[in-house]
Amino acid sequence: MSDYNQDLLTQEVMKAFATPQAGRLGEIMSSLVKHLHAFTREVDLKPEEWLAGLQFLTKTGQISTERRPEFILLSDVLGLSMMVVSLTQARESKSIVGATEATVEGPFYWEGAPEVGLGGNIAEGVVGEPAYYTGTVTDVAGTPLPGALLDLWSGDGEGNYDVQLSATPSMQARGKIRTDAQGQFRFWSIRPTFYPIPSDGPVGDLMRATHRSINRPGHIHMMVSAEGHVPVTTHLFVANSPYLDQDAVFGKRDSLVVAFAPHAPGTAPDGTVMTKQYYTTSYNFRLAPVSA
Ligand SMILES: [Fe+2]
Repeated sequence: MSDYNQDLLTQEVMKAFATPQAGRLGEIMSSLVKHLHAFTREVDLKPEEWLAGLQFLTKTGQISTERRPEFILLSDVLGLSMMVVSLTQARESKSIVGATEATVEGPFYWEGAPEVGLGGNIAEGVVGEPAYYTGTVTDVAGTPLPGALLDLWSGDGEGNYDVQLSATPSMQARGKIRTDAQGQFRFWSIRPTFYPIPSDGPVGDLMRATHRSINRPGHIHMMVSAEGHVPVTTHLFVANSPYLDQDAVFGKRDSLVVAFAPHAPGTAPDGTVMTKQYYTTSYNFRLAPVSA
């Protein structure tokens, strides 16, 4: 590159990455360079701003642990996670028409939740208002799927996940439930509440500096899977929850918003005698066949 030329610089870097040997990675890096250079020029990035950006990314890495994946949180607040979820659904659209919509996994999944018997409580002893969840897992034609697995995780009634409560947490409000012969599930947990995303790190600093809300509407997470079907990672959102229309990670989808009906103390649908107010809710998950 003999003459200083911004366009030429961009082309040379793109070319350096986009070699046949570099394959898909080369394609991705070349496009990243194209957009990164265009962004830099568009905002006329100053040296101190460039350095602040690099320091922000450095801090994001430094605070990250397996249980505190700050980069996933960053991806979430940028809408990048939801964009990837959306692209994935669109790519598979021929096979997932009629299937339950996916949304972000978020930073709090913890593999290895205990299997809880059908009708059991995944949030025994957890602070919050009790809620009884029922529903079915079917295929997109409505045929029940016996033995389908719901891998569930939820914050508590104050909006905290187990991994946030201690440096050496043990699992709470997590559990796996399998559907019965009719494809039906039922379990107890709590009614989730809205909560702030972790805000004591660089992502929190960014949200405050840009005057964005750090809250997510109340929701419970689940991965729903069944043999021969495309699994879905999704949430159920609590209807009327605060922040339903300003989800900090852009994950809310209307089809995933469900009502939680309040009930006075008394006998719950499964015969449990409740001494305080509780809620009931229901949802039917629909999975697409793998081969479709
Ligand atoms: Fe969550």
